[in-house]
Amino acid sequence: MVMACGAAALFPLTTISLASSTATTSSLPIISASFCRLPHPQSPFCCIPTGATSIGGSSIRRRFLQLRASAAEEAEKHNVLVVNTNSGGHAFIGFWVAKEMRAAGHRVTVFTVGAETSEKMNKPPFSQFSELREIGVETVWGDPSSIGAKFGSNASFDIVLDNNGKDLEAVKPVADWANESGVGQFLFVSSAGIYKTSDELPHIEGDAVKADAGHVGVENYIGQLSFQSWASFRPQYMTGFGNNKDCEEWFFDRIVRGRPVPIPSPGLQLTNIAHVSDLSSMIALAIEKPKEAHGTIFNAVSDRAVTFDGLVRLCALAAGCEAKIIHYDPKALNIDAKKAFPFRNMHFYAEPRAAKEKLGWKSKTHLSEDLKARFQVYVTNGRHKKDIKFELDDKILDSMKVPVTI
Ligand SMILES: *[C@@H]1O[C@H](CO)[C@@H](O)[C@H](O)[C@H]1NC(C)=O
Ligand SMILES: *[C@@H]1O[C@H](CO)[C@@H](O)[C@H](O)[C@H]1NC(C)=O
Repeated sequence: MVMACGAAALFPLTTISLASSTATTSSLPIISASFCRLPHPQSPFCCIPTGATSIGGSSIRRRFLQLRASAAEEAEKHNVLVVNTNSGGHAFIGFWVAKEMRAAGHRVTVFTVGAETSEKMNKPPFSQFSELREIGVETVWGDPSSIGAKFGSNASFDIVLDNNGKDLEAVKPVADWANESGVGQFLFVSSAGIYKTSDELPHIEGDAVKADAGHVGVENYIGQLSFQSWASFRPQYMTGFGNNKDCEEWFFDRIVRGRPVPIPSPGLQLTNIAHVSDLSSMIALAIEKPKEAHGTIFNAVSDRAVTFDGLVRLCALAAGCEAKIIHYDPKALNIDAKKAFPFRNMHFYAEPRAAKEKLGWKSKTHLSEDLKARFQVYVTNGRHKKDIKFELDDKILDSMKVPVTI
């Protein structure tokens, strides 16, 4: 199947004139293909690590010991509760962790905020929750602030992952209930967005954070409870199946339509796009090694950064299209880069140092390969044909006198 998308060829370089003295045109695209090749769609789950981690004998005092005492063969298996948000960019982390933990033979319950009948459940990853049930994951819905009423104090979960709350108000009921019901390990999905801007990059665990950030309050609080093991994971930008927040899609939207890709200058800003399977493997390893993980903040990111321009080129390569990068100066054009571009317009990337040092974790993903799989999903979903408005892009390109001929 061949789909023409070579409209980029309609933008002769000579027509580009710069409205702002600080803006520069990009280097020429390195992609020379003039049409899109669309290979057969692959399984969106081809990135799930198949080598299920075996859980070694844990010496955790609370629930782990009870399990070991009760049944020898049960001892290796945990009972995991994932409290999952029903919206935002983190929802698919719970989906992937549930799959990975279940594949390793653990009992897993995913407790999603709200009602099963809510409209939010029509979107990925929730629309695929049947896949979880098929492999034996229990899926329930409700209000985490009354989690005690939902599960009682005898729920016998060994491990609770809160992938929902962004502040103490939201997480405290879950953490207190888990603490009181003797849960051995409590894990929290925080955010790398809480790091203060710094002169040294990448951000590593221990760097200064915005003290008033809600996530910081949670991290401090769970450390004071009686969990045998606790840990916090700070993700950054993510990609992978079930992501319901635009990441690479923003780039594909422009590239497949032959539209110039407006990038805040200079385009060399570094960011980190992690495949969610790197996060789920990290969380799985923290469950496997509760002692090593205990009391630790983990940057839950992949171990390479990518430049903005580089991301355009990798997305173009994945799509088999040409890409035309246009650099603009948001200030000079009076453009709010937060609205015109999906990532923070600055160097922003963290390093997964604690996971490597304490857990022996390794990234198993490759952004360029992952983007190819993501492009299949993009096309399978029909988004390449969707009518999308590019008003802000047009404003930028118009200010820079870049013609758009679609
Ligand atoms: C909790 O479990 C214990 C021991 O199995 C049992 O005696 C007790 O009634 C249970 N409590 C509740 C609230 O279910
Ligand atoms: C946490 O649990 C421990 C042990 O069960 C208990 O002593 C402590 O008071 C609990 N902390 C909170 C804040 O409830």
